[in-house]
Amino acid sequence: MKNSFIVLGIESSCDDTAAALINVYHDGYEPVKTDILSSVIIDQLKLHSSYGGVVPELAARAHSEKLDFCVEQAIVDSGLKINDIDVIAVTSGPGLIGGLFSGVLFSKGLSLGLGKPLVGVNHLAGHALTARLIANSFFPYLTLLVSGGHCQLLVVESPTTFIRLGGTLDDSPGEAFDKTAKLLGLGYPGGPKIQERAKTGDQNFFELPKPLCNQDNCNLSFSGLKTAVRRESERLISKQGLISDKDISNLCASFQKTVADILVEKTKKAMDLFSQNNKSIQVKQLAVVGGVAANEVVRSHLKFLAKNEGFQIIIPPAELCTDNAVMIAYTGAELFVKKSFSDSDLICRPRWPLDKKAMALLGSGKKGVKG
Ligand code: KG4
Ligand code: ZN
Repeated sequence: MKNSFIVLGIESSCDDTAAALINVYHDGYEPVKTDILSSVIIDQLKLHSSYGGVVPELAARAHSEKLDFCVEQAIVDSGLKINDIDVIAVTSGPGLIGGLFSGVLFSKGLSLGLGKPLVGVNHLAGHALTARLIANSFFPYLTLLVSGGHCQLLVVESPTTFIRLGGTLDDSPGEAFDKTAKLLGLGYPGGPKIQERAKTGDQNFFELPKPLCNQDNCNLSFSGLKTAVRRESERLISKQGLISDKDISNLCASFQKTVADILVEKTKKAMDLFSQNNKSIQVKQLAVVGGVAANEVVRSHLKFLAKNEGFQIIIPPAELCTDNAVMIAYTGAELFVKKSFSDSDLICRPRWPLDKKAMALLGSGKKGVKG
């Protein structure tokens, strides 16, 4: 094998059509350095905005319409030619089945046409392994994966071995951001809208519940928090006849701080478990990944926690937290160096939990938005 290879990554599991090219240097066992050559993301915000959420059939059609353009653009932006690609990595689960089919069928065609190997990638592994892409983090490391469809605390032991310490029992934090923003009339996606609005609010104005925080485990819950915001806004409307701009800002700031507090509480418990089980590790690492890791308050709270607990923290830049194809290409590279290919028998897995032994939870890749 050459000492570097080019990977084309393709992502279409939800509402972003994405393609990326990366150049990966390796030592025969694992990637040692990665150059991101291009990253193209075509979102479907306009397509779904009037429905208030992702419509799976519309998403699948839009992926198949945009995939060839998206890949072509990624190749042009990289300055390479299509024949320079050494391997194709595609998200084959978990996610919406129509979108997965679009990406996997497209990739199979390309792989056959170019005569290049194909690797099927777990989207959640893509988020979790972004830590290695940006910081060469070493196994095992602790990961908080917080996105629109998922919320899990995981120990990442290898590109294919994950131990779930806990996860959400109901909504994911991204879902809570999105539903709360919708409730307050702020639009979609809720995370960035709430973050912006919270800047003009008082984060201590409303005291919101922190479900499960009194329990000594790593499971989380967010649906009660969203309901508490609804109750507060209904109370304000019945008292004042309306909900003012200032009330909305205060609710956003208080909600955002409460999400960050819950994540800190539960990550602290996961750090304790990780430390107990990995006493010989000199440098303990915490990766925070997924769309909600783009949130500035969540980032700063977790940075503070990591510093206090003696963990090195790895949080990707915002554009590598939300869905992208760079993480899919990189995870494909991790598998490719280990000679783990998929080829034309690759199947789509709308449900594909990272920890195969753990009991099913809503956010573990078996149910939820992405299932
Ligand atoms: O990882 P991602 O792009 O897609 C999934 O795999 O689900 O995450 C999308 C989620 C959405 O719920 C979105 O509202 C949330 O990430 N998000 C944020 C921010 N940016 C995106 N949540 C809070 N603050 C942000 N800045
Ligand atoms: Zn994602």
